[in-house]
Amino acid sequence: MKIRVMDISDYEEVYGLWMSSKNMGFNNLDDSKEGIGIFLQRNPNTSFVAVEDKAIIGVVLAGHDGRRGYIYHMFVKEPFRKQKVGTKLLEECLEALKKEGIHKVALLVFKYNEADSRFWEKQGFVVREDIDYRNLELTELVRIDT
Ligand SMILES: CC(C)(COP(=O)(O)OP(=O)(O)OC[C@H]1O[C@@H](n2cnc3c(N)ncnc32)[C@H](O)[C@@H]1OP(=O)(O)O)[C@@H](O)C(=O)NCCC(=O)NCCS
Repeated sequence: MKIRVMDISDYEEVYGLWMSSKNMGFNNLDDSKEGIGIFLQRNPNTSFVAVEDKAIIGVVLAGHDGRRGYIYHMFVKEPFRKQKVGTKLLEECLEALKKEGIHKVALLVFKYNEADSRFWEKQGFVVREDIDYRNLELTELVRIDT
């Protein structure tokens, strides 16, 4: 298994993996090829794919705004789970974010996605009970919840 930086040419394969997931949230704009292309252009060094026999089996999208690092849409294909692929993808992206001067990283997980919350707990990501997450849509988005 090899881990390498994600490129926009990986998009179709990665999108196929995301759409096979359960309990993850996507939308029609940010997760379109154009949306992911813009994200990778702004953050060319911090998103990774795991490759086995030329096929992508895992992905982590990560970037930063100069202050906070954010992790999105981490996914490992079913038969490859619990073999540390997720841990290795995460190590690569945290190292890459650190190299870019980022000190703190955040991510969102649906509350009903308990199994994956346990993964993040093990990786040291704590739940902030003192914060309400708020957002505002500037453009009408179509949610794609898997
Ligand atoms: C979350 C996910 C990426 C983890 O990938 P993975 O390759 O299976 O993770 P690892 O093998 O590196 O696991 C690391 C540790 O977390 C634990 N872990 C992983 N998934 C777990 C689960 N579902 N329930 C409980 N523990 C879990 C592993 O047992 C391991 O523990 P250990 O260090 O004590 O051995 C993968 O389960 C997945 O793709 N889930 C669906 C997508 C998703 O919901 N992503 C999060 C949204 S941002």
